[in-house]
Amino acid sequence: KQALIMDVDTGVDDALALLYLLASPEAEVVAITCTAGNVSAQHVARNNLALLELCGASHIEVALGSEVPLVQPLETAEATHGPQGIGYAELPEPTTSLSPRHATEVWADIVRSRPGEVIGLVTGPLTNLALALRIEPELPLLLKRLVVMGGSFNHIGNTTPTSEWNIAVDPDAAKIVFDAFSVLPPERRPIVCGLDITEQIGLLPEDIARIAELAGSTPAETLDPEQPRGTRSTASNHIVRHLSDAVRFYVENQNDNGDGYRAHMHDPFAAALAIQPELAEYRSATVDVELTGTLTRGTTVADYRGMWGREHNADIATSTQPRVFLDQLVERVGRFARD
Ligand code: BDR
Ligand code: CA
Repeated sequence: KQALIMDVDTGVDDALALLYLLASPEAEVVAITCTAGNVSAQHVARNNLALLELCGASHIEVALGSEVPLVQPLETAEATHGPQGIGYAELPEPTTSLSPRHATEVWADIVRSRPGEVIGLVTGPLTNLALALRIEPELPLLLKRLVVMGGSFNHIGNTTPTSEWNIAVDPDAAKIVFDAFSVLPPERRPIVCGLDITEQIGLLPEDIARIAELAGSTPAETLDPEQPRGTRSTASNHIVRHLSDAVRFYVENQNDNGDGYRAHMHDPFAAALAIQPELAEYRSATVDVELTGTLTRGTTVADYRGMWGREHNADIATSTQPRVFLDQLVERVGRFARD
């Protein structure tokens, strides 16, 4: 199995990324570190403890990380992810506790003890990873590979006109990380998947219905757009019910923004590429982050043609067949929820 350490700002789609990995036979999540982003780091941590408990996976270590970005003040995204970061889902208060270790120590200790074995998956702002590089500068060489959900390589943003959330929340951290990962041979270059690809991957109400069906849940219709806003699922299966309540909030918001009644699978797709990179095609580039632009702070810039004369530091996912991944996610999560 492929060992993974996740850094998250859970987050409806981070939660689905975790569910997907727990449901994937190829993956072994060894630790989850929490950063401030969609909601406060404290909420993120609580969400992860509660999710793991719901899934019977409380043996996985959850560590708290940075509560603020490196330089700029924290902005959160309750409008997108709900007041607690998990949409309308009301997960029971976790009975388990956080790791005594800080997120940065968890990253450093894990990669030192298993050099070249562990894949790092970041689906939130890059604050924790930037800080972990201070205590273990060899981290890029010690990780098997880094996979990041972040950036927008057609420069259509979701946070500013040109910037994507995970980069925009902590651009200074993102720049540190991209610079530090420019030392690797091609086969170990970070995989980066941006909004331009993840916004093509929309989970639909019928996908949630199929998950419910596979899980043996009743009723199978758990996310009906015809029902009034905020309607809570009555699914008999707990995972299906919470998933449906989380996703409903997220798709209502997306629908309000003109993106249709579908849930963009940003973080789950990054999780999929961590264990099945063949699900996408890539183009390598040198990625850097704009820090000083008056309109463009937090924008990712990719140099494909070597104009900067710097090593490539990213394999940017450029295309995929969304249905292949979506069907896999539905199958895996549905069967996992049944057990
Ligand atoms: C990213 O921003 C967050 O809101 C999502 O969880 C995802 O990681 C998409 O821009
Ligand atoms: Ca996220």
